Amino acid sequence: MEFQVITSGVKDVACDVLVVGAVRGQGGQVELPGTTATVDNLLNGLLHEISTIEEFKSNLGELAAVHTMGRLAARRVLLVGLGEQGKLTSQSLRRASAVAARQAQSTGARTLCLALNWSGSGIDAEEGAQAEVEGALLGTYSFRKYQHSEPQGGNGRGIAKVELLSYDSQQAQLQEGIRRGVALAEAANFARDLVNEPPNVMTPTELANRAVAMAKRFGLEYQVLDRPQMEELGMGGLLAVSQGSAQPPKFIILRYQGDKSTKQGMALVGKGITFDTGGISLKPPERMDEMKGDMAGAAAVIGAMQAIATLKPPINVTVLVPTTENMPGGNAYRPGDIVRIMNGKTIEIVNTDAEGRMILSDALSYAVREGLSPIIDVATLTGGIVVALGSVMTGLFCNSEQLCQEIIEAGKLAGEKYWPMPLDPEYAEQIKSDIADIKQTGGRPASSVTAAKILENFVGNAQWAHLDIAGTFYVESKKPYQEKGATGTATRTLANLALLLAYQQ
Ligand code: BES
Ligand code: MN
Ligand code: ZN
Repeated sequence: MEFQVITSGVKDVACDVLVVGAVRGQGGQVELPGTTATVDNLLNGLLHEISTIEEFKSNLGELAAVHTMGRLAARRVLLVGLGEQGKLTSQSLRRASAVAARQAQSTGARTLCLALNWSGSGIDAEEGAQAEVEGALLGTYSFRKYQHSEPQGGNGRGIAKVELLSYDSQQAQLQEGIRRGVALAEAANFARDLVNEPPNVMTPTELANRAVAMAKRFGLEYQVLDRPQMEELGMGGLLAVSQGSAQPPKFIILRYQGDKSTKQGMALVGKGITFDTGGISLKPPERMDEMKGDMAGAAAVIGAMQAIATLKPPINVTVLVPTTENMPGGNAYRPGDIVRIMNGKTIEIVNTDAEGRMILSDALSYAVREGLSPIIDVATLTGGIVVALGSVMTGLFCNSEQLCQEIIEAGKLAGEKYWPMPLDPEYAEQIKSDIADIKQTGGRPASSVTAAKILENFVGNAQWAHLDIAGTFYVESKKPYQEKGATGTATRTLANLALLLAYQQ
């Protein structure tokens, strides 16, 4: 998909679908702002007519399509609701653009013109363009490589060109917004591809291969550790979990050097369980297939690194991905085992399904040994966070208030929501062991918190944040703005965070 800024009048833009916005006024009536009113006039009041007969209320993402019958150069006009007047945000622009692009694509459009004017809303040109571009790319994403038939209603080719109508002469800002939007959305879609691949394809070896291919393409340093090197480093957690699997484990390292003046830098750590059966503590069969997505944390940090390598902020970033399957093989680790993590601490195993914290403990220890800070880990870690926050917000655990606020801010720029969760010392009572340094699980109460408390044992003095994305990595059913399956959550937030940290110093 190619993006362009164009300055011609709305009457003369030639495209398959011209997208214009509407808002809902104080009294509930639909308002057609600037460009939309112009289009309405050209169509003899057709848009106004649709909105008065209660067919269209201008809720966010609501659509109405009309043919132009040659009155405009565009073949069709898609009226999209932007929600309440005065409440327009970059996230509503992103959603509106996603819904419109998705709808246009499903009706066979090849070219799209976006004329959603946001001037006067407080959103600047760059942010608005970025949101529109992200919306179009994220909204039209699909994963159909294993299907012969055409996607429903599609022409199998998709939208080739998107033109953004420019209102004020802020060409440079719009172009920069496009550049960012493309980099971020392509990174998120790359992460979605990694997660959507079936688990017989996306093995630890394949995940490493895809990460290395990306690293080569974007000029990153990379290294993939194998079992002997893990043994040498004492990565007991990763090795224990991998024991039950026929697939060899990998430890993926990607390095981006944007600031040559220092060795300091941030670490992005992602949970890379390519399939989680639960191991000996086997999971029930219902929806176990979704556990192919237990490497969504890994996908997010690898994806974020692609965006970072594209946008080149002046900061150093290291990606660390411990990856293995969690299988109940004959050599699998058992409840009752005691496992020694890379930093020397021992963990008493009680439930082999709590494998994420085992492999992350080694990766966090590795980040600390490298002197990296802040460290941000991303993981589909607990069912508990799904109970607490559902699919709306990601659980955010931090040992630094400042880092917490920066992540929330970076999330806002991406339209991704994070909710602060506690790390109160009293929760550590639940993970005391009689025979090892720590017990692997703290029981049902506050299980997402006790999981984070385990990780806290391995972060040393670094600034650290843990993102539990178990509720947000996947959508079960198609949404108007999104395909069923992987969401690519946290990818754009993490790339935004790197930009934020790089330019604030
Ligand atoms: N990968 C799962 C967590 C999960 C659940 C991710 C639902 C996505 C959707 C994790 O490895 C797990 O099994 N966690 C257990 C831990 C428990 C055994 C202490 C959980 O949260 O139930
Ligand atoms: Mn598990
Ligand atoms: Zn898991």
